[in-house]
Amino acid sequence: MRKNIVAGNWKMNTTLQEGIKLAEDVNEALKTATPKCDIVICVPFTHLASVNNVIDKNILGLGAENCADHVKGAYTGEVSAAMVASTGATHVILGHSERRQYYGETAEILKEKVNLALANNLTPIFCIGEVLEQREDGSYFDVVKAQIEGSLFELSAEDFGKIVLAYEPVWAIGTGKTATDDQAEEMHAFIRGVIADKYGKEVADNTSILYGGSCKPSNAAALFAKPNVDGGLIGGAALEAESFMGIVTAF
Ligand code: 13P
Repeated sequence: MRKNIVAGNWKMNTTLQEGIKLAEDVNEALKTATPKCDIVICVPFTHLASVNNVIDKNILGLGAENCADHVKGAYTGEVSAAMVASTGATHVILGHSERRQYYGETAEILKEKVNLALANNLTPIFCIGEVLEQREDGSYFDVVKAQIEGSLFELSAEDFGKIVLAYEPVWAIGTGKTATDDQAEEMHAFIRGVIADKYGKEVADNTSILYGGSCKPSNAAALFAKPNVDGGLIGGAALEAESFMGIVTAF
């Protein structure tokens, strides 16, 4: 069966010291909580090794926000999947809309990143989602389908089964404007159908599909109550232990 997951995406926020404190606070809160989901925090590269040392990995998973599309070598400033894995991280966000939009990450580049993440036993949290214009012109199903096909559909069924998907409508990210729970459910059900057509119903049923975009304690419960919404990828609300925990406990 698929897992429920709440993952934080800290983006380019917190100094190392602030990040360690935030990780400690989340870890502390989880000690006394009985969450009905897996919890992961995805943190800046610079924080990974230190955060790994202060959290209990039995209750809190650790991920990066990106990795390189090459194995190793002369790629100044890049961080490889093997480097990420060597810190103790188990997850990596790939294909976030901010990476696609601001850093020109294409379906082809993301395919390489996914392959390298899997080769290093990292679980990719693969992001997909349409921009406002595509929501308004009605092309959003086609856009999301193409993003999945373009980077993931050369995977074997076994490898596809290791992917976590995150539907993040770009118009809902950091805007305070969430997709309604019905809009999220409609897209998540569509995505599961796309996976079923390619890999069969069992693989589709076992794939965790998270929602991301202005998810907060006040709307998380309604989103997570939808049958095809298996959790959330949380930006702003993951930057404080209290609001992050408010989402974790929404399950
Ligand atoms: P917000 O929760 O800040 O809208 O960000 C969502 C997101 O991009 C998570 O990856």
